[in-house]
Amino acid sequence: MTTSGEVDAVAVMAAIRSRRSVRKFYPEPLSDELIDDLLEAARWASASDDGQPSHVVVVREASTKQRLDAVAAESRSLYELWASTLPRSARLSSPPNFLEVPICLAFFADPRQAPAYVEGEQSHVLAAGMAIQSLWLAAQARGLGAYFWSHLEQDQMKSILGVPHHHYFAGILGLGYPLDKREAGISPEPKPLAEIVGYEWFKTRRGQSPPPDKLALLRDFLGSERLDDR
Ligand SMILES: Cc1cc2nc3c(=O)[nH]c(=O)nc-3n(C[C@H](O)[C@H](O)[C@H](O)COP(=O)(O)O)c2cc1C
Repeated sequence: MTTSGEVDAVAVMAAIRSRRSVRKFYPEPLSDELIDDLLEAARWASASDDGQPSHVVVVREASTKQRLDAVAAESRSLYELWASTLPRSARLSSPPNFLEVPICLAFFADPRQAPAYVEGEQSHVLAAGMAIQSLWLAAQARGLGAYFWSHLEQDQMKSILGVPHHHYFAGILGLGYPLDKREAGISPEPKPLAEIVGYEWFKTRRGQSPPPDKLALLRDFLGSERLDDR
């Protein structure tokens, strides 16, 4: 916070832009206070209806990490069965060695705490994503590094961490002090805004009109009065 009580926009943007995946860490453990501080960031994330569907299981002990490693290895074997159906660019890298990660936070979401109002709505999944990103940014602001790993068999993850079956397993955020800060620069730059943003219409540049042929189709569908009203 600044002295005026407002959030420091430059610092927030710096945390957002400098956050890149880090996969190698010093073995140094994180203090309870630091972990609580990070979890607090997740607690304040947005969630549908304030249902707060997200749950976190904190994994610090070697025996639990070994169970994570076993699930990762088995998930990898199962993945090999259908890997050929994926595009080459989507091939799974080797599973992490969770024993080498100081702390693993396993995120789950309870769909009963974020019911769908319309077909296909996945509010609990989105809420978990928001909680994960908030925590990741808080970690980044404290000099920690992190990476996210989601390719783990759902049922097995719930079984080994005592999570009720109806929950959704979102993934694991592995955290620690980065061993090699250069590693955080190896991911490609994100796509430019022009590729991912459209104004009033999908992939339409600011100031440009939506494609007339598509508008004509929409006019047929909605009725011209309703569209021309806009
Ligand atoms: C849903 C989801 C699943 C992901 N799964 C993995 C994963 O299994 N392994 C991994 O190394 N990174 C995983 N990531 C991290 C992305 O690969 C990474 O954030 C992305 O390549 C951008 O790189 P950056 O984090 O360095 O900016 C995942 C991210 C998301 C949002």
